[in-house]
Amino acid sequence: MRHFLGVLAVVGPLMGCSVDFQGWAGMKDQPKAMAYRESDVFADERAMRVPPPGTVPREYKDRSRRVRTGGDTVETSAGIPLTLTRELLEQGHKSFDIYCATCHGVRGDGVSPVARKMGVRAPPSLLVLPPYADGHYFNVIGRGFGLMPGYAEKLTPEQRWAVVAYVRALQASQRVRLEDVPPEARERLLQEKAP
Ligand code: HEC
Repeated sequence: MRHFLGVLAVVGPLMGCSVDFQGWAGMKDQPKAMAYRESDVFADERAMRVPPPGTVPREYKDRSRRVRTGGDTVETSAGIPLTLTRELLEQGHKSFDIYCATCHGVRGDGVSPVARKMGVRAPPSLLVLPPYADGHYFNVIGRGFGLMPGYAEKLTPEQRWAVVAYVRALQASQRVRLEDVPPEARERLLQEKAP
């Protein structure tokens, strides 16, 4: 059988005959509606249908225009309005690793493959920024900043605050004083530091 097909494949075109193996020609030329083309299926002869008035795209459901477009901002001087819990920080950690680490690095220090290749202005280290208030971070995440895109469509306001909290944790992790550590952890740190 394989020989037979092989011979047909070579001899067929030579003889100018078109062999329709398993209906291939039919699949190439199937009746379907093409974007912006006419169609005789509908009375208005348009292939593309007009959505009923008031239709909301599925991805816009439950989201205000302000949130979608990043207009959802706070006073730049605002602080984190949510209770800081371990759960919130862990949520922020997860979102940060998904949406921010690609550019700013998993430690937020601006070391990432993308940063190395971004020629115009590389994503900065988030550990050495000026003393911005939490609200500034919230607004940057939602609206974007210069070359950085906004993430209002991906992260709800709560998720953005969680990311801000996690960025604060990353920053704090760079210069924690012994007094800031819970007493039970101090002993362990001192032992680890001892030569
Ligand atoms: C596509 C790469 C990219 C991603 C992803 C990204 N950033 Fe940025 N970010 C940048 C770049 C580039 C800049 C500098 C923009 C400029 O100066 O034009 C920047 C700047 C910043 C700044 C500094 C703003 C200031 O006032 O100086 C903060 C804070 C920041 N990003 C936080 C985040 C957080 C948090 C996330 C995740 C939600 C994130 N970024 C995701 C590329 C990125």
